[in-house]
Amino acid sequence: MNNNIRRSVIVGTGSALPANIVTNIDLPSRLDTSDEWIVERTGIRARHIAPAEIKTSDLAVEAAQNALAAAGLPAEAIDLIIVATATPDQIFPATATTVQARLGLTKGVAFDIAAVCSGFIYALTVADSMLRTGVYQRALVIGAEIFSRILDWEDRTTAVLFGDGAGAVVLEAQEWDSGRGILAARLHSDGRYNDMLYVPGGPGSGEEPGKVRMSGREVFRHAVVNLSEVVDEVLVDAGCAASDIDWVIPHQANARILDATARRLGLPPEKMVVTVDAHANTSAASVPLALDGAVRDGRIKAGDLCVLEAMGGGFTWGAVLLRF
Ligand code: ACO
Repeated sequence: MNNNIRRSVIVGTGSALPANIVTNIDLPSRLDTSDEWIVERTGIRARHIAPAEIKTSDLAVEAAQNALAAAGLPAEAIDLIIVATATPDQIFPATATTVQARLGLTKGVAFDIAAVCSGFIYALTVADSMLRTGVYQRALVIGAEIFSRILDWEDRTTAVLFGDGAGAVVLEAQEWDSGRGILAARLHSDGRYNDMLYVPGGPGSGEEPGKVRMSGREVFRHAVVNLSEVVDEVLVDAGCAASDIDWVIPHQANARILDATARRLGLPPEKMVVTVDAHANTSAASVPLALDGAVRDGRIKAGDLCVLEAMGGGFTWGAVLLRF
């Protein structure tokens, strides 16, 4: 069938996790926490922590190469690279340009997006918009973080929650309508809440960079409402019902947020792809990491209706509805 619809289709997924696994029991004893508390309140059992010699770009490149291999494409097929990260290698240039160079590419466009835990949803939405203009053909959309380096390892209320990793997708513009691809995407921000989850400091403020600070209860409360509302929005945009959804690939912050969101949407918990137990919260990496896991273990198949959603600092939040 040939018509004018140009859609962005995920043609490959990949991920990368540092080899070093830190279980709740391995956490520093000065945190005064317990496996029982962490599992009961968050569902987290372990996280991957990058050693000092690994950079965010290393994880991003590995995830990108795995996504390209899954797509069966050479790096030269890519003309757009977006890296979502709150932990870039350096202040500038963008980590995406490092990824571009490491992939041996000299053409196309590469830039970063900072929307913290929502970063991958933001990046996917921006890449989709750029592909649909007809100017770009194939994007690498990457979420990559080494959050362990911006944690206050004296603060048990945040240190136990996060981990490191990267996930990537190859997004391809297809001129014909196979029914696959991104059907709807919605983004939101509300800067009134930018002191609910933040890292203070940076060159623009003249203050030394600090560590993650969070009002956990407030974040929790907003997350459940905002996430279920934005999923409803993309369903309405695409003319779909919640019961049509095959898989929800949520940002992996807390198992209780995932359960509460599923309940509000009226979805059985089995439709949620859950990795928070093994990865903790990897910020911008969590959605593509979960997606790649569920594609590789055969749960998500071509034609499945998937909703990807996330909320993070800002607050920022969003959802993408796609037919895989
Ligand atoms: N170990 C043991 N005790 C702890 C720990 C810990 N790691 N952390 C906090 N506590 C204590 C607190 O000090 C408090 O003790 P107190 O009653 O003596 O003062 C008690 O546990 C209860 O603390 P609360 O903050 O009320 O616990 P809550 O049930 O709200 O759980 C949590 C905290 C897990 C942070 C929860 O609020 C949450 O998940 N919020 C969402 C935050 C989030 O996921 N952020 C990620 C980024 S944003 C996003 O991705 C959506």
